[in-house]
Amino acid sequence: MTVLADIGQLATCPRDGRDAGLIDHAALAWDASRVVWAGPEAELPDRFADAERQSAGGRLVIPGLVDCHTHLAFAGDRADEFVERIRGTPYLEVARRGGGILKTVRATRAASDDVLEAGARDRLGAMLRQGVTTVEAKTGYGLTTADELRVLRLYRRLGEEGPQRIVPTLLAAHVVPPEFAADRAGYVRLITDEIVPAVAAEGLAAFVDVFVEDSAFTADEARAVFAAARAHGLGAKLHADQLSDTGGAALAAEVGAASADHLECVSDDGIRALAERGVVAVSLPIATLVLGQEPLPARRLLDAGARVAVATDLNPGSAPSSSLGLALWLACTRQRMTPEEALRGATAEAARALRLDDGTGSLAPGAPADFAVLDAPSLDVWLSTWRAEPVARTVIAGETAWSTGARHEA
Ligand code: NIG
Ligand code: FE
Repeated sequence: MTVLADIGQLATCPRDGRDAGLIDHAALAWDASRVVWAGPEAELPDRFADAERQSAGGRLVIPGLVDCHTHLAFAGDRADEFVERIRGTPYLEVARRGGGILKTVRATRAASDDVLEAGARDRLGAMLRQGVTTVEAKTGYGLTTADELRVLRLYRRLGEEGPQRIVPTLLAAHVVPPEFAADRAGYVRLITDEIVPAVAAEGLAAFVDVFVEDSAFTADEARAVFAAARAHGLGAKLHADQLSDTGGAALAAEVGAASADHLECVSDDGIRALAERGVVAVSLPIATLVLGQEPLPARRLLDAGARVAVATDLNPGSAPSSSLGLALWLACTRQRMTPEEALRGATAEAARALRLDDGTGSLAPGAPADFAVLDAPSLDVWLSTWRAEPVARTVIAGETAWSTGARHEA
């Protein structure tokens, strides 16, 4: 049994609440890998008198962050496209010329297993230093049965080795690969009849995602992919209404998706559908910023009763950053989410977007003892200032997975 005392402010992020469950002058206790108690330090029960005691030194403690949307494994870079966009070429025009996502597909197919793994490990390491303890990881740069399975097997290995928990998602429906340019239906059939069954047979993915957009897949193609996913017991996620309103949010509601992600161009009807069906709206403000778009209407979604998560969208093109802290700060500054709403978005609501119902994303008794200690006295102080490295310590399943050194221990 271990007690972390002298917590300046504790954010428990109750799963079904709407606030961050803030408690000043708090303590947190865990036994092996699960939280057993969280509350005001003055109320810590006597049964913890003999527990090992640690001090948070008056700092903020939050649930381990959950990045519920990443394209974790890829090879190469898109620096040329970055410069082209600065010079005025739009994202979709880059894609039409064979750049964009397809450039990363070529580099990823050509990369060795070691190169792919090293890149993913580097990114996970950076995320750990940001307090991220659970990471959703998509495929989508392989687009052949073998290449998609290769990345999912890498995710399985990374999750088994830890320290972070990995939630794998099949995104074979990212774009139509060049070899199927003249046979879109053939590619959709490859996904439904071969890739999804092979992934399910090996238990390699929790979700199937589809990029629904004029430049990617139609709603009907997505329906076929989701029908195959459902038949194999896999959940649904969508890249929806990112570059235009294609009815992606309504489709997410129709197919019972866990989340609809992006939504910069979502309609009022789409917002209503998400709120009614309990589909989590995932905001990806780094991609919004990079592509120079108007942000997802977080206030309208929240006011309509929808749940809003916040994630990085880490990928080499539209969101080349693994900083979930940056995404949270953008959610506050550009989307008018309060610090409490933003933190919930990367904890309890992100866990909901991944259908994790074991308490992940909150610090209630029974939840995994996954948390981060921030070098700030309170949530508002942390999120009102953007700092690249605000985390002092990251704990996963009760064990310190990373720390800045002796600073956190009394
Ligand atoms: O989430 N929208 C589609 N997919 C990614 C972009 C990936 C890329 O540009 O490589 C996204 O923004
Ligand atoms: Fe994405």
